[in-house]
Amino acid sequence: ASKISSQRRRLLVSRDLGPDTMALLRAREDLEIVAWPEDRKCDRSWLLDNVAGATGAIVMLSDKIDEEFYEKAGPKLKVLSTTSVGFEHVDLNATYRRRVRLGYTPDVLTDAGVTLVKEGKWPDFSFGPFFFTGPQLSSTSPSQTRTVGFLGFGRIAQVTLGRLASFGITHCVYTSNPSSPRDHELEAALAARHALRSVRRVELDELARESDVLFVLAPGGDATYHVVDADFLRKMKKHAVLVNTARGTLVDSDALALALREKWIWGAGLDVVEGEPHVGVDHPLVKEPRCVIVPHIASATFETRFGMVNLAARNALAGIDEVAMPAELDV
Ligand code: DGY
Repeated sequence: ASKISSQRRRLLVSRDLGPDTMALLRAREDLEIVAWPEDRKCDRSWLLDNVAGATGAIVMLSDKIDEEFYEKAGPKLKVLSTTSVGFEHVDLNATYRRRVRLGYTPDVLTDAGVTLVKEGKWPDFSFGPFFFTGPQLSSTSPSQTRTVGFLGFGRIAQVTLGRLASFGITHCVYTSNPSSPRDHELEAALAARHALRSVRRVELDELARESDVLFVLAPGGDATYHVVDADFLRKMKKHAVLVNTARGTLVDSDALALALREKWIWGAGLDVVEGEPHVGVDHPLVKEPRCVIVPHIASATFETRFGMVNLAARNALAGIDEVAMPAELDV
């Protein structure tokens, strides 16, 4: 048996992808599927030991894919398939240098939503008209505007805009990669489709000043590191809400905690925090009452996660077979 298995190309899988997707992989008799057996993040040492000599690897965003990983993998590695739309955990230069193809999971998580249920005790207060109030998303009169801002304006941002339109948003401002030209047609089409008074690409400064609610939805990495810093937060409206469902590194946590404490802005909703998963009860943001934090679960619906693992598996198999991948990231 070991002779047969040594002749088969190896596909490493760093987390159980569920019965359907694992069956899809195991049906391939020409492949030796080596999967981390436990229901927790795989150990770094296991990852490095088992990637040695592999042709493909399916990994999670909690696995750091760096020089060391590629060195251990060796020259046989053809494809890395990450079960995520984000790729901050992947060293793109190292991937490119080694000519490893990179699969990721766009689109399947554009539709995921968050349901937040915070457990607690029913507050024991006598009713006051302004208890537990916060800023309203919709404008309350025709002369009033409500602007949603997007830092990053890809698929997820555009779908989010559509969802918010029905809450009475009047304007949209966004920033996007300055090296790509402003798309006036797209702006006009989105404004018409969602009955908005305008959709405009702006500079970072204006984004901070104009947004009533601001969504951070750009990729992580060096180019966007701490783009939301103290300077940015000071420019925001006092009633503004900041939402980060992208990567923690885009937002300077200390600056955000200070902004909340000193009421430069009204609140924050975070699915991601810099330094996760090491975010304990003493973290300055966890202590902030106007900061709602969930542990990186914005894509956690059955449908989306199944879409992600299935796409990651198909990307890996396409890479091994040297055919077009359903979703390949151009590194
Ligand atoms: C991703 O896929 O990058 C998301 O952060 C997971 O929810």
